[in-house]
Order: sequence, then structure tokens, then C-alpha cells
Amino acid sequence: MANIMANDITSGTSTVSPSNSGSIKIYRNFIGGEFHESLSGQTFENLNPADTRDLVGVFQRSNAQDVDAAVRAAKAAFAKWRLVPAPKRAEIIYRAAEILLSRKEDCARQMTREMGKVLKETRGDVQEAIDCAYFMAGEGRRMYGVTTPAELANKAAMAIRQPLGVIGMITPWNFPMAIASWKLLPAIVAGNCCVIKPAEDTPLSTFNLVQALADAGMPDGVINIVTGYGPEAGAPLLDHPEVRAISFTGSSKVGKLIAQACAGNFKRCSLELGGKNPMIVMDDANLDLALEGALWGAFGTTGQRCTATSRIILHKDIYEEFATKLVARARKLKVGNGLDEAMEMGPAINQRQLDQDLKYVEIGQSEGAKLLCGGNRLCEGDHANGYFLEPTVFGDVTPKMRIAQEEIFGPVVSLIRCESFEEAVEFANGIDYGLSSALYTKDVNRAFAAIRDLEAGITYINAPTIGAEVHLPFGGVKQTGNGHREGGVGSLDFYTEWKAVYIDYSDTLQRAQIDNAD
Ligand code: NAI
Ligand code: MG
Repeated sequence: MANIMANDITSGTSTVSPSNSGSIKIYRNFIGGEFHESLSGQTFENLNPADTRDLVGVFQRSNAQDVDAAVRAAKAAFAKWRLVPAPKRAEIIYRAAEILLSRKEDCARQMTREMGKVLKETRGDVQEAIDCAYFMAGEGRRMYGVTTPAELANKAAMAIRQPLGVIGMITPWNFPMAIASWKLLPAIVAGNCCVIKPAEDTPLSTFNLVQALADAGMPDGVINIVTGYGPEAGAPLLDHPEVRAISFTGSSKVGKLIAQACAGNFKRCSLELGGKNPMIVMDDANLDLALEGALWGAFGTTGQRCTATSRIILHKDIYEEFATKLVARARKLKVGNGLDEAMEMGPAINQRQLDQDLKYVEIGQSEGAKLLCGGNRLCEGDHANGYFLEPTVFGDVTPKMRIAQEEIFGPVVSLIRCESFEEAVEFANGIDYGLSSALYTKDVNRAFAAIRDLEAGITYINAPTIGAEVHLPFGGVKQTGNGHREGGVGSLDFYTEWKAVYIDYSDTLQRAQIDNAD
């Protein structure tokens, strides 16, 4: 167990932090339970996207040598961790959940500072890690395998789950604690050791999660954190011979690179990529309910969710009414610093993302869609030092327009008119992605048809496309991923190897498929 006072990984002001200067917190890589500066000698800044004058902390700009040290520490820890009974591993995770619960408000505030989403949502992000910890702690006493009859007499057969070894994890910035928990917790309850490279925009929340685990008694080296940029500190994990598997969440562009590298190195690889999630609203729907869902689905997390509602497919008979109401409400949303409880939507994560959002506003207009509201950067007064964009609604969008096909990852939603339920499903499915989907209707027949026919890993009936719960499978079809699921019991499939075990107690040589053939 890490010595908490001396090894406080979330506090740059700890006594073991010689690099601390003034009130600026300097965070170091967490490797083998110790704190290390990067061998590169370089650092980078983690800024608040709502006010870039606010420096959240300075982090190590790590390189391949740092990653190698972290992998070696994980490999060394694995020798013992794999032998700790799973229920004991689970007790540490359970205690970490209790610790996180007691730190929920602090962790949420720090997360809002480092990535911008409003406090209500960052509290939810921390809660998701807590939920995941309770759930995975329970798995420590299940981790069910299979027992099955053998085909020969006096012979037993079973299949058990075993850990892989060292797992590499590369995470994005939009759910900086929840996504880290989805990967780390099933991995460690199953007996693996991990090296995680958090997104460069939001490394602090990973430190806060791992601190809770260290404080709960997790042995040194079971989880190691190496911070830095993707090509420098993430890519070395893909080539390292001791890393057995890579779990990645982020853009499709980087996901493809990761899949290619893993294929060449015989590594297992889980990809959780983009979405272009449709919400269908039929003419019989409760329109006020659908409206609330649309606002939350499209503008929650500033639209920066892989499950964000980015296309609203409206039956022609309710199109005008719904569009009018949505625009009126979108215009009223309070956009600002998420630390202010009155705010409903925060900034884009960084300049690059804001530029991407603005580029799609231009693309939408040039394609002939109608800009119904928003589309402008907010840069006066309280907004002057952040990456704020007005909530943006496009009307008269047709299904093949780029704004209806490509992931924008901002507060930009497209309204598409449809003639019928069948056409709505066709539009919903007419994209390369397949993460989440939603249908608003009171017609149970349509609801079940949609559950069957929508090409997506998640379907909501009378709820927006966002809001996954940790004990259900999370992931998508088509270019959203490569078939793995996070969350739920199924996530253990990625983090374990099946071993088939045969015990022959007949005291004779019995040959399967031969001695029982007649
Ligand atoms: P990204 O895919 O570049 O970054 C995600 C993670 O991958 C980060 O930790 C990054 O450092 C790492 N990474 C980047 N290049 C790498 C490389 N060559 N090798 C290994 N690791 C690498 O995503 P970014 O730039 O933060 O966002 C860009 C777009 O990606 C967004 O606009 C959005 O469309 C999509 N995205 C989707 C997410 C999702 O939840 N599915 C989450 C974040 C971004
Ligand atoms: Mg930041």
C-alpha cells in the first residue's frame, strides 16, 4: 500500500515533490508506487477551457522510456497481483468506491476546472466511477467460469478466467474519470496490472481515481500513470512487447492507427470510437418529453459525448412545432463556467475542438442547411478567456449532408424531416457509426420494431441517446468500434483469457472423440 502522506499523487505540494514551485501544482508520473519526472525533462500545462488563465496543473510530457519503466513496474507487480484472490482484490476496489464517495465534490470541482463540463455533470462522472467500483467489486466474488460435463466417464471439465498480464489504456478527455474506471476496474479485479495514458487535456481526474485506489490499499505497480501526448506517450504502449492488450477510447482516426499497430504486434485491442446518434421523434410522441431529452442529449457535455444526440429525425407532422420549441429553449441555455451552478453548458475542450465546431457550422450553411440558432463563438465578458460556442441548431438537414454524417463533437444538432417510421429508421441507420439511438413514441409496436432494427449498440425508448448505466454493456456497431463492450459483466471478456481445464480421474488413457465414438 502506498504511503499516503508521502505519496500523495494528487498533490504537487506534498513533501516528496521537490519540483513544486509556488502555488503551481506539478504532477509526476506514478510508476511502481513512486513519483517520477519524465526522462524527457519536459512538461505540459493542463488549462481550464472555461478560463485559460487558470492553470490546473503541470504534468509530465512523457516518452517511450517512461512508458517502458511503467510497463516494467506493472509486469513486476503482476507476479504477485495475479495470485491475490479476486475477492481480496475486490475489497480494495470497494474501499476505493467509499473513498471516492467522500471526495466526490472535490473530484467533481477539479474535473470541471480541467475539462469544463458543468458541476452537475462532473458529479455524475465521479459517480459513474463509484458505481463502476461497486459493480466490479461484486464481480470479485463471481467472475464466473463454466463447468460442464466431459464427454468421457470419470473426467471433469471446466473453463476458468485468467488475467492477461499488463494492459495499456489510452483515454479521452470527455469522461476523464468514468472512462478510466470502465477500463481500470475490470482489468484489476481480474488480476491484470495496468499502464494508463490519460488524455493530455484532462490527466488530473485519472490521478484522483488512482489515488483513491492507492489509499484503499492497492499494491504498488498495479496501476501506473504516464502522462503526455498521444504519439509520444501513448504510441509506445502499442509496440511494447510486454503489453498484452490495449483498451482505447477516442477518435476513429487514432482508433484505426491503434488497431493497425496492435494487429502487427498480436495484441488484443478494444476500440470505443465515435458516434452520430439519432433521436427519432414520431407524431404520437410526448413532445415536451422529447424536447427535454433533445436539449439534454444534444447540449449535455457541450455535445462532446460519443453518445451525444447529434441528429433529430422528426416526423413531418410535428417538425415545425418541435423545431420552434427547441430553438426557443436552446437560445435560453446558460453557457459559461461550469463551476457556476447556474450554468447549463460549458465550453469546448480546447481551441482545436472549437475550430472544428465552427468549421461544421460553415459546412452546414454551405450545404444548404438552415441555421436556426447559434453558430457563433461567445467571447465577450465572462466568456472572453474560454472556448465557448452558442448552442446551435440546424434545420432542413438532409440525411447525406456532412453535418448529418460526420461526428462534430460540439453543441451542434441537425434536424431531419421524415415521412414515416420506416423512413426514420432508414435515415437513422444510414451512417457509418452505430453507437446510440433513441425513439420517442407511445406505440409499443414501433418501439419493439426499433429495438430490433436500429443499427446501434444502445437503443433508448422515450429517453435521449445519452445516460449509460455501468452494469449494462456499452459499445457500438459498424465504425464505432471493433465489437468489444465496456461496462457490465461482458467487459471481463476483454480483460481475461479463457483456460479450459480437464481433470481425468479414470486412471486410464481416455481419448476424446475416439474412445467414446460408439
Ligand atoms: P484523440 O483520439 O486524438 O485522443 C484520444 C486519446 O488518444 C488521447 O489520450 C490521445 O493522447 C491519444 N492519442 C492521440 N494520438 C495517438 C497516437 N498516435 N497513438 C496513441 N495514442 C494517441 O481525440 P481528440 O484529439 O482528443 O479529439 C478529436 C476528436 O475525436 C473529437 O472531436 C471527437 O470527434 C473524437 N473523440 C471521441 C471520443 C469518444 O468518446 N468516442 C472521445 C474523444 C474524442
Ligand atoms: Mg484541461
